[in-house]
Amino acid sequence: MLVSAKDMLVKAKAGKYAVGQFNINNLEWTKAALLTAQECNSPIILGVSEGAGKYMAGFKTVASMVKAMIEELKITVPVALHLDHGTYDGCYKCIEAGFSSIMFDGSHYPIDENVAKTKELVEVCAGKGMSLEAEVGSIGGEEDGVIGKGECADPTECKQIADLGVTMLAAGIGNIHGKYPENWEGLSFETLDAIQKLTGDMPLVLHGGTGIPEDMIKKAISLGVAKINVNTECQLSFAAATRKYIEEGKDLSGKGFDPRKLLNPGFEAIKATIKEKMELFGSVGKA
Ligand code: 13P
Repeated sequence: MLVSAKDMLVKAKAGKYAVGQFNINNLEWTKAALLTAQECNSPIILGVSEGAGKYMAGFKTVASMVKAMIEELKITVPVALHLDHGTYDGCYKCIEAGFSSIMFDGSHYPIDENVAKTKELVEVCAGKGMSLEAEVGSIGGEEDGVIGKGECADPTECKQIADLGVTMLAAGIGNIHGKYPENWEGLSFETLDAIQKLTGDMPLVLHGGTGIPEDMIKKAISLGVAKINVNTECQLSFAAATRKYIEEGKDLSGKGFDPRKLLNPGFEAIKATIKEKMELFGSVGKA
């Protein structure tokens, strides 16, 4: 069932668990994510970066694939198809393509411009029954060409954006896309606590879910995080399983070169990573 992310996140925030956003890259990724969500009876958000959308031939291809897969795989759990770190233009392309949710990442604009553009998109999304994620304070590291310094968001700016009526709010709290460096200082729970106090019921979003220790994930959820994004970790599991298959020479024996066989260990590895995260985030059985 393709839905906006609103209800699933309101329920998650109230129930003190988080819904995972898992970024997709191709058909195998999408199928792995949808089947795992169904098996875990968990809501799921499929994240699509602008780079991944382009790679998959465009947002319309992605939306058609996801909708058809939900039907043909008989997926009954709530699924949101969400643009990740969208530009202003990218948001409109996804609205047109039939996504059910978008993120407008205006964190690199001066706050007044972020507010103005977010406000406009709140109205457009409301008219279409879509959910909208906004961002304050950039997330560190690099994801598909989106580079952030990794700053802590200003809680009063978070309140300003939350008050516009967005569905969920991503706020930088020292989190980083990709692997965390050895000398990472950890999440700033002080910032998160201050943001949650000012934004009340607003579901907060934790980007850079790869490599955050379990205790920090649990603490973040207890402080109002209701959506956690995971991308790199599925890529690493897929790559490691594919590498093992090839290094063991399995592609050279019999029909092991058949793409359906060659990609299967990576597919299963993505499924295992998503299941592990759903269990950690507490969304299993919450569909
Ligand atoms: P990771 O790649 O660090 O898991 O981050 C994913 C993310 O935040 C997508 O927006």
